[in-house]
Amino acid sequence: MSLESAPAKHRLFFALWPPAALQTWLAVVAHDLQGELGGKMTRADSIHLTLVFLGDVLSTRLDEVVTIGDAVRWHRFTLTIDTCGCWAHNRIAWAAPEGTPPALTELVAELQTRVRAIGFAIDERPYAPHITLVRKASRPRRKTRMEVLEQWPVEDFALIRSQLDAQGSRYSVIRRWPCEP
Ligand code: 2AM
Repeated sequence: MSLESAPAKHRLFFALWPPAALQTWLAVVAHDLQGELGGKMTRADSIHLTLVFLGDVLSTRLDEVVTIGDAVRWHRFTLTIDTCGCWAHNRIAWAAPEGTPPALTELVAELQTRVRAIGFAIDERPYAPHITLVRKASRPRRKTRMEVLEQWPVEDFALIRSQLDAQGSRYSVIRRWPCEP
């Protein structure tokens, strides 16, 4: 198949997008982790927490995915990003909440169920909320507690499109869904 006739696809995922002040604080954490471990930092304005990663989706199916976001009902919750570390298996340095609020677990479970129901094969591993701050770190690092500077009252979740360019991944928000009042 020639490139011209390849069907259009979008690389999609549902995510929580932090407020700018929290991104700025996490960028400082990223800078510190990179200083310690090397690797490539996530751009401050790209810092996010993935809920469900769908991968490549035919553009003709985009409306179905948006319908999932329309259907999900969820409860407001607050995240405390209070730990950081670097995994050995993929050399991703991350920040994360030490505890996962039940409302986050429920939101992810509902998204996963609905995404599977329309035929997408998604990650089977238990959900481990994390914010990737550095990729290709030179070595793993044990999990440590951080002094928390910012609470994150989660007001909405989003459907994000990821596009690769020379600088790496570029993300754009397709749609946001606020929490019900
Ligand atoms: P990562 O940060 O742990 O790599 C956009 O690529 C987002 O989707 C990133 O937050 C990334 O998680 C996540 N992601 C990419 N590929 C994935 C996969 N195969 N399964 C689950 N999440 C994935």
